[in-house]
Amino acid sequence: MKTLVVGSGGREHALAWKLAMSPKVQTVFVAPGNGGTEADPKLHNVPITDFGALADFAQREKIALTVVGPEAPLAAGIVDLFRARGLRVFGPTRAAAQLESSKAFAKEFMQRHGIPTAKHASYTDPAAAHAHVDSNGVPIVIKADGLAAGKGVVVAMSAAEAHEAIDWMLVDTANQLGVQHNAGGARVVIEEFLVGEEASFIVVSDGRHAVSLATSQDHKRLLDHDQGPNTGGMGAYSPAPVVTPNVHAKAMHEIIQPTLAGMAAEGTPFTGFLYAGLMVDDHGQPRTVEFNCRLGDPETQPILMRLKSDLFDLLMHATDGTLDQVELKWDRRTALGVVMAAHGYPLAPRKGDAITGLPPDADDAMVFHAGTTMQDGTLVTSGGRVLCATALGDSVKLAQQHAYDLLHGIRFDGAQYRRDIGFRAIKR
Ligand SMILES: Nc1ncnc2c1ncn2[C@@H]1O[C@H](COP(=O)(O)OP(=O)(O)O)[C@@H](O)[C@H]1O
Ligand SMILES: [Mg+2]
Repeated sequence: MKTLVVGSGGREHALAWKLAMSPKVQTVFVAPGNGGTEADPKLHNVPITDFGALADFAQREKIALTVVGPEAPLAAGIVDLFRARGLRVFGPTRAAAQLESSKAFAKEFMQRHGIPTAKHASYTDPAAAHAHVDSNGVPIVIKADGLAAGKGVVVAMSAAEAHEAIDWMLVDTANQLGVQHNAGGARVVIEEFLVGEEASFIVVSDGRHAVSLATSQDHKRLLDHDQGPNTGGMGAYSPAPVVTPNVHAKAMHEIIQPTLAGMAAEGTPFTGFLYAGLMVDDHGQPRTVEFNCRLGDPETQPILMRLKSDLFDLLMHATDGTLDQVELKWDRRTALGVVMAAHGYPLAPRKGDAITGLPPDADDAMVFHAGTTMQDGTLVTSGGRVLCATALGDSVKLAQQHAYDLLHGIRFDGAQYRRDIGFRAIKR
């Protein structure tokens, strides 16, 4: 059968790579894909991004299953469009994707359904937002309501920072870097500051049932020891030891199941990958930091490297509503991925640097591509996060060594990467 993956990042390369392993899958198209999906003879790039044209392509090619990687097309309703055209697609509808595309929606939803999360209030009026900070003190967390590609959250340690963030998000809106406002214009969510360790808890949902994927943890800051600016993610590993069996059970019973039941009861059942960003406190109580309506990048790369089951089968069950029949098998080893980013990332990533020294693909060692493209027969950088060197090992330490061994052969001018991916798990 033929499948289609929508997107162009490392997450989509990993999805396509794993789908291609299924004996039931003959062809995997990736739209638009990247230099890595182009180089793989089992994958085929399709230079289409317009949803209508993609649906035409899926109909013409008789695509059995389309999987949507990133949040932007989901929030814009690509799943609604494909379904209306009778196409099988895995992902949430536009209405269900609000769990990610509106932080205010997600917080109000969690409050209605008693799902553990930080206390919050949301404001469109700057004076009221400033007053909230004055009466609650710091640390405090200020979030822009719409999709912001990881740039819409300020964890303010001082009152000045909090006030500045409010002005930036509500008053100085002309200066905003890519925050997409929802209906009603600029809005901020102000949250209580939660203490603990974060983990990514991702499930596959068919609207009623959920199957959890292996747990993971990513590293958001650019530099070693979690210093420097926030990024889309500089590395990740799976499993995340902070998610003990007890934390796992609580996350399923107190967060995932009530979320799926609540979304169904409200007439917007959630189908797709549901990602709960958890903050786990010292007592092992998880709270929801945020929901994403898709897989994480780079968490997907180590997670899928550990998945032994057939991804195509899993997603067919998910689109048939039969996930209650599925049990997933996982490699017991740890998988760890280290991102190599371009010169100037995250503020102003440079493009066009030639990449050399890529190792051959293997089942336990893969370099997934993100910001790469083929230019006159040469692989060059074309985006902020360029590659993610991902490998398995019998311990976090060994997986880390294996991933860095892969990475050390790769060269491009200005490459940036962290040397300490996995340090929290190694410390434990
Ligand atoms: N209530 C909170 N308490 C403490 N830290 C938080 C809180 N909310 C968010 N953060 C921190 O900010 C990061 C980004 O926030 P998040 O809601 O995940 O937004 P996004 O991923 O859309 O940028 C989180 O990963 C976490 O480190
Ligand atoms: Mg987040």
